Amino acid sequence: MQEKILIIGSSGQIGTELVIALRKIYGENNVIASDIKPSSYEIMNSGPFEKMDVMDEKLLGSIVKKHNITQIYLLAALLSATAEKNIELGWGLNMRSLSHVLDLARYGLIKKIFWPSSIAVFGPTTPKNKTPQYTVMEPNTVYGISKLAGERWNEYYWNQFNVDVRSLRYPGLIGWKGKPGGGTTDYAVEIFHQAIKNNKYQCFLKKCTCLPMMYMKDAIRATIELMESESKKIKIRSSYNLAGISFSPEEISEEIKKYLPAFNISYKEDFRQKIADSWPSSIDDNHAQKDWGWKIEYDLQKMTKDMIKNLTNKYQKKTVNE
Ligand code: SER
Repeated sequence: MQEKILIIGSSGQIGTELVIALRKIYGENNVIASDIKPSSYEIMNSGPFEKMDVMDEKLLGSIVKKHNITQIYLLAALLSATAEKNIELGWGLNMRSLSHVLDLARYGLIKKIFWPSSIAVFGPTTPKNKTPQYTVMEPNTVYGISKLAGERWNEYYWNQFNVDVRSLRYPGLIGWKGKPGGGTTDYAVEIFHQAIKNNKYQCFLKKCTCLPMMYMKDAIRATIELMESESKKIKIRSSYNLAGISFSPEEISEEIKKYLPAFNISYKEDFRQKIADSWPSSIDDNHAQKDWGWKIEYDLQKMTKDMIKNLTNKYQKKTVNE
């Protein structure tokens, strides 16, 4: 049977790359992009797009029926920093969107769901280094609380209703195609843009704040590998730990200086420092490795090289969306 995939949140940092990757695999017309605002030029011109607010449950249901959707990737969310500024919207959007989509699967309209969780499910009482899959989880941000609650709902729907939902606890994601919005790990993307454009960057985290991160190419591959694995291999239905690389602002700036020797970083922490301090420094993802064969490809060196090459090209062509 032909899979028909709906990506909710196709204009965001992950959606921008995931839609294109999935269209290559499943065919352009079998991957429907959707967002409240238009997506990238590449997405809008390579296949179907539906304008949708995921809070509109009726519209979501009608789009699912119209396209005979079999799988949904639910990427729409308010990230950590933005959700702290708007608690009601952060909680409402992150939770209601998930419950709408889980119910579509519960009532047999779709067959498979991907929903991203995050390192934000951990909190200040969680062991910081090589944080295990099963550990103390007391998140203290709206975003983290919503992601942990969502994980519990995923597992509940799997156990009670056999809903095939799959999830990854993404670390901070770094890519050159789409721009992040409202996250605490966003500095690691902004730093590349500012380094290439202005040779300087003022970081909103302290220089020694080490956080788990991952290059977008690895994150997209992990997502697709998880979704294409046989159901029986997916032993964890809440969400899998996923480890990439861990570094501090100081370490990434040293790496950037290898390509842009005049680059200068300064530090002025803001409210996001407290969020970062509550999160792990590194993650243990042995369950993902064991269950469905996950393996990272990009380390800090390889990622920095690829980011600088692609972003420099993009700025030369002047096609970066600011
Ligand atoms: N990258 C996200 C954020 O910073 C964490 O999942 O909010």
